Amino acid sequence: SKAPVNVTVTGAAGQIGYALLFRIASGQLLGADTPVKLRLLEIPQAVKAAEGTAMELDDCAFPLLQGIDIFDDAGQAFQGANVGLLVGARPRGKGMERGDLLEANGGIFKPQGEAINAGAADDIRVLAVGNPANTNALITQNHAPDVPAERFNAMTRLDHNRALTQLAKKLNVSINDIKKLTIWGNHSATQYPDIFHAEVGGKNAAKAVNDQAWIEDDFIPTVAKRGAAIIEARGASSAASAANAAIDHVHDWVNGTPEGDWTSAAVPSDGSYGVPEGLISSFPAVSRNGAWEIVQGLEIDEFSRGRIDASVRELSEERDTVRGLGLVK
Ligand code: NAI
Repeated sequence: SKAPVNVTVTGAAGQIGYALLFRIASGQLLGADTPVKLRLLEIPQAVKAAEGTAMELDDCAFPLLQGIDIFDDAGQAFQGANVGLLVGARPRGKGMERGDLLEANGGIFKPQGEAINAGAADDIRVLAVGNPANTNALITQNHAPDVPAERFNAMTRLDHNRALTQLAKKLNVSINDIKKLTIWGNHSATQYPDIFHAEVGGKNAAKAVNDQAWIEDDFIPTVAKRGAAIIEARGASSAASAANAAIDHVHDWVNGTPEGDWTSAAVPSDGSYGVPEGLISSFPAVSRNGAWEIVQGLEIDEFSRGRIDASVRELSEERDTVRGLGLVK
């Protein structure tokens, strides 16, 4: 039987953590043949709550779960980690400027990057979920110089999944009929959900929609502002859907994406599509042999160009801010 995979989850006692851990332990992250050991990281005040969640994990008697360890120290939590799910982050407080938010998160993600560099397994894969996810991933990556840069991703899979459902509803088709949808740029309100290369039942999705006003005034803002709509309705931010997207992202990264389709992942740019090299930006991506490849050769029209550039500009500004704070090179 396979050796267990060490999965480190930060913010384990939070609401995403509560939706995520049980699915990891049941085998949905890596596959039903892969045993897992969970390594939970929390701040000291939340360790007790994490212990409570661990008790419930025990009470599920998951056949694949081979151990649970709880830490309040990043250096220990990332020892031997094969997968790091960086969920714990500093939320934006009242009156907090974006620079303050980035700085507060630097205080979390810098030491985690250092811990990953010092102690993670050679095959470590890191997914930043905590916001601002793309720039938090960049900070982490910068403090783990011995880990290949492409092992640091940020999550736009929730945006991707949200867009799939909005398009399926519009066209009255099943999710399974839709392929090759893309989220470009930042996991923020500037993100660009692109259906111009998407296919529905083998035909172009934008042509099937045939309604530019719906794309611009309905589809794009609905997807980009979905997080706020969930908070408004639920009184709390997306948690189960965010956990589901993290499962999807890592599952596909490790096991590959299906032939004839792609997904969306925020990965370090190699300069493709005019995105400055090094920015961790969302692209159309396939996973082969355990690594993401940015889908090449898509024609980008003027409308899409403007949308991609606007979101990428925001990512560049975030990078400038954290550079100014000495958090990235
Ligand atoms: P939450 O507030 O319920 O949980 C966060 C947990 O992180 C708390 O238990 C807190 O104690 C812990 N934490 C704080 N600092 C930590 C540190 N230094 N080390 C370890 N743990 C630490 O928040 P929730 O709802 O679970 O969301 C977590 C993050 O995910 C937020 O930043 C949220 O904005 C983000 N998010 C991202 C999405 C995406 O699509 N990329 C979607 C939804 C949420």
